[in-house]
Amino acid sequence: MLIHAITPDPVYEFAADIRAGLTKSGQKELPSKYLYDDVGSALFEVISVLPEYGLTRADERLLQRHASDIVGQLPSRVLVAELGSGTGKKTRWVLKALCRRQHTSYYPIEISPTALAMCKRELGDIESMSIVGFEREYLDGLLEVAARRRDGDHLLVLFLGSTIGNFDRPAALTFLRQLRQILLPGDSLLLGTDLEKPIPQLLDAYHDPLGVTAAFNLNLLARINRELDADFILTDFEHAVRFNAEARSVEMHLRSKRAQTVSIPRAELSVNFSADETIWTESSHKYSAEELFDIAQQTGFHCQAQWIDAQWPFAENLFIAE
Ligand SMILES: C[S@@+](CC[C@H](N)C(=O)[O-])C[C@H]1O[C@@H](n2cnc3c(N)ncnc32)[C@H](O)[C@@H]1O
Repeated sequence: MLIHAITPDPVYEFAADIRAGLTKSGQKELPSKYLYDDVGSALFEVISVLPEYGLTRADERLLQRHASDIVGQLPSRVLVAELGSGTGKKTRWVLKALCRRQHTSYYPIEISPTALAMCKRELGDIESMSIVGFEREYLDGLLEVAARRRDGDHLLVLFLGSTIGNFDRPAALTFLRQLRQILLPGDSLLLGTDLEKPIPQLLDAYHDPLGVTAAFNLNLLARINRELDADFILTDFEHAVRFNAEARSVEMHLRSKRAQTVSIPRAELSVNFSADETIWTESSHKYSAEELFDIAQQTGFHCQAQWIDAQWPFAENLFIAE
């Protein structure tokens, strides 16, 4: 029997999501996953070394310092899946610790082909390790990895960089429950989470004086121009950040500097913006160290261990599937 797989057309999906987000009543919104095209992934790499953005360095310090301890808490024969790996630079520490005791299969799962290519280059030299990348959304990729496990294999899922913070709190719980459904009892999730800190420090982290984060954000409009033939004038929009105290998140927006109409032909759309109206492009939720234990319990895990960076409050949480 011949089975035809129907693969969704990415440009069609992109256009549909852009149309949905820009025609929403009230606050206009775009999904943050679209920030990561070739340019966006390259800009994110620069963000991760900015002095104001301590998050990536804190994550890496913890992984470097505690890799042996983390790996020591896992049973042997581990397959590693990483959600939204980016370049995977920080993951090296965990993978090297694992590879010292066993040959390791590593599966980065990325929506960005550029990030996936960087990851394979970055980690391709680790001995005793094979890499198979999946250009997929998080859970679609994880399902494919889970299908490769053999009896006795233990799955370690890495979700680093506090990318979980891009989900609002209810959506994060739903996501973790869905992730748990793909795992077996005893599997592990190493979850990196940025912790609450003074608001000015948080705002600086997402609004650096060099303007790299602004470029990262504005690139979303440039991407819509490139891929959907839109006519956004980039200089007519500006990067804006605000702290949402109720949600405990830093929000990134793109503010229209004047009243204007933008046409997006490949989304069959013309959008009006009033002066100062914003498009909400990303949220980064912040956590308390204690709430991670509750989050684990509410989503079918228990938090077996937690490591916190003293310099930039950030937690690495080892969740075990119940
Ligand atoms: C904030 S970056 C973090 C990268 C890296 N994990 C780190 O900690 O530096 C988020 C990464 O997730 C990827 N990503 C975003 N949404 C995704 C999705 N829905 N499915 C798969 N990957 C996604 C992006 O391409 C990006 O590389």
